[in-house]
Amino acid sequence: MMRDTFLPFAKPSISEEAIAEVVDSLRSGWLTTGPKLQKFESMLQSYVNAPHALCLSSATAGLQLALMALNLQPEDEVITTPMTFAATLNVIEMVGATVKLVDVSKDTYNIDVEQIKSAITPKTKAIMPVHFAGLPVDLDPIYDLAEKHGLYVIEDAAHAIGAEYKGKKIGSFGDIQVFSFHPNKNMTTGEGGCVITRDDQIAKHIMLTRFHGMDREAWNRFGKSGSAHYQIVYPGFKYNMMDLQAALGIHQLPLLDEFIQKRTQLANRYLDKLQGFDYLILPKEPAYEHKHAWHLFAPMVNPAKTDLTRDQFMQKLKSMNIGCGIHYEAAHLYPYYADKYGFKEGDFPNAEFIGKHVISLPLFPDMTETEQDEVIDALTCIFENKD
Ligand SMILES: Cc1ncc(COP(=O)(O)O)c(C=O)c1O
Repeated sequence: MMRDTFLPFAKPSISEEAIAEVVDSLRSGWLTTGPKLQKFESMLQSYVNAPHALCLSSATAGLQLALMALNLQPEDEVITTPMTFAATLNVIEMVGATVKLVDVSKDTYNIDVEQIKSAITPKTKAIMPVHFAGLPVDLDPIYDLAEKHGLYVIEDAAHAIGAEYKGKKIGSFGDIQVFSFHPNKNMTTGEGGCVITRDDQIAKHIMLTRFHGMDREAWNRFGKSGSAHYQIVYPGFKYNMMDLQAALGIHQLPLLDEFIQKRTQLANRYLDKLQGFDYLILPKEPAYEHKHAWHLFAPMVNPAKTDLTRDQFMQKLKSMNIGCGIHYEAAHLYPYYADKYGFKEGDFPNAEFIGKHVISLPLFPDMTETEQDEVIDALTCIFENKD
């Protein structure tokens, strides 16, 4: 049965309270960084139990400023994986450092810790693991390696606010974590991101660089008690988050755990109903204790069981009014990286396999079981040629 309307693969859940809060900001006349951002940041600090939660215009900005705070030099290497959104690699280039890639596990799509060991050189300065789809990376051995070699760990936690590793929230320990609040993510501020750190110096640097390099939080310099004067102590960017965005965040964060619970129920239901459906390779979870944030449900089309390519399958799903996404194609094969570093097919076989076969199926908190059943029926139809 064909759906009448298009089912998106992701959709934010915005409460009436959040809408009213945005309207309140609009009516107040204070649209940009201000009291609502302060409130949202302190809510984030409490949520992850960290002393610094610094919001920015995007997670990309957060990753960039986190790297800048490490004062990297052009020859310095940052280790990450090709199975990520391009922003993870782009920021390393933007700060003038060198991208060093290692492959991922074909089961979890997360960085292969064993391969990090052989990628570390005297020039390595940081490791940037990605908690893919909200599934926490095995952090203990990564932090052990970092300590042994004097490296920083910047966790690309764009997918992972609310996830837990061995009973601890992502963001509640470690060096630096960066969350994204893009509308597809588990909670949203429209666009936006947040850097979490326990390091006062790093926090100070990010506070400077996110707003022109002004020597103090200068958002209220036009207010009655604010001072119109400031000094520029560093050449900074304009990466601040607006109150309009924070207004959404203030009402998204208290619902986050509930959103994740709904995502988890739906993800488990997919896993249950698709058990034995060999046309797809289902996502697997590691043995260590963790809480998955289920930002994505991203199985792979199984080339051993079907001649349909992932892209043909996507087209068929879309023609049946069902949205889907690709997260991600292997980043080392993008022209910029292939040209600059000489990366080629065969360099990171697991990331390449995932990149060719992965597909994100619809998953969002307000998706109904009926909608999910329609997706599952469509899968059966497509693979068993019943359309
Ligand atoms: C793994 C990963 N890192 C970084 C980002 C960048 O996040 P933003 O869109 O907030 O800049 C994304 C966004 O999709 C992502 O998926």
